[in-house]
Amino acid sequence: MKSIKNVNFAGKKALVRVDFNVPIDKGQITDDTRIREALPTIEKLLSDGASVILMAHFGRPKKGGFEPELSLKPVVDYLSKMINKPVAFTQSLDFKDIKALADELKSGDVMMIENIRFYQGETKGDEQLAKKLSELGDCYVNDAFGAAHREHSSTATIARFFPNDKYFGLLMENEIVNLNRLMSSPNKPFTAIIGGSKISSKIDVIHNLLPLVDNLIIGGGMSYTFAKSRGNRIGNSICEDDKMQVALDLIEEAKNKGVNLYLPIDIMAGDAFSNDCNVKYCPEVDIPDGWEGMDAGEKTRELFREVILKSQTILWNGPVGVFEFETFAKGTDAIAKAVAEATDKGAFSAVGGGDSVSAINKSGFADKISYISTGGGAMLEFLEGKTLPGIKAIMD
Ligand code: 3PG
Repeated sequence: MKSIKNVNFAGKKALVRVDFNVPIDKGQITDDTRIREALPTIEKLLSDGASVILMAHFGRPKKGGFEPELSLKPVVDYLSKMINKPVAFTQSLDFKDIKALADELKSGDVMMIENIRFYQGETKGDEQLAKKLSELGDCYVNDAFGAAHREHSSTATIARFFPNDKYFGLLMENEIVNLNRLMSSPNKPFTAIIGGSKISSKIDVIHNLLPLVDNLIIGGGMSYTFAKSRGNRIGNSICEDDKMQVALDLIEEAKNKGVNLYLPIDIMAGDAFSNDCNVKYCPEVDIPDGWEGMDAGEKTRELFREVILKSQTILWNGPVGVFEFETFAKGTDAIAKAVAEATDKGAFSAVGGGDSVSAINKSGFADKISYISTGGGAMLEFLEGKTLPGIKAIMD
């Protein structure tokens, strides 16, 4: 592992790619996990006596060039408060201006460049852009695990310009160590809890996990595709009709591999997709027309809890209900609580994916979890067994 841990960066200008793609509502950062988790890397470099030039993306700009609503300015202000020092910043995309700012940096200074996706070529991995970026600093540190599945100029191509001076940041290192631990030597029983609305986005992960896990809990929106494929009535619940055979094949594959598959056995349904709708308890997965499944029922919560509490390794990705509505957050809260309790009893727990991470933060159990990933898509691709370009670029 090319870690920054054992290197002294005194006097260097370190180009650091971070993932500061954080949720922002009316100019306010609503979850700062990704910024907080990148601080140890920034602080290590600064305490060595380096100066730090941060590169980050925000959202998915479409127009090409500057878009005020996708500026990193709110993040710059937030970071500056967190590290208690000014963060030099320019909204100019002209490399002459950026280089001038970078050249002024002294040991212990921090600067950030504007949303890297404003630059043409970034998302195509353009070499010219990577070269220009590389000329700003003397070494490259990738700490953007959340963007490691993107083969972009600032996440991958740029590493070519630093064959002997490219490193994993501490956040990235931590993610790789923990995810490898999960996938290569999990203590048994190993339980994976996979939720979320669509089978299509989780199918590859489930396939890759089946040979490893003892228990697979499937909840949330995608469980209704399983239910319908087994002949249950699901009313107006979300369903991928074209994935019903995939669901049946997965049930079969789990059986063949000796994996215990747990699906919801009772449901809280609503008559509209809202927090204030009428609520109906369905004691079986038999949902009448006009109602849609919104959360796990009490028997399901108890079943999932029992399985989780008997586990030594737990992976959780995806909510098991529409947790953003208070009325339907009980299932996801119950998972958060059970994973925290199992961890207290000695299990190793990993939680990832934007929704599960905000659910665990909301539940107040975040500090009980062994490891919370900052990656959404990146974590999934890692768990699918794919090589992530951002990781490969440092290893090559
Ligand atoms: C994320 O939020 O998952 C990462 O920042 C990657 O963003 P992207 O999906 O727009 O590449």
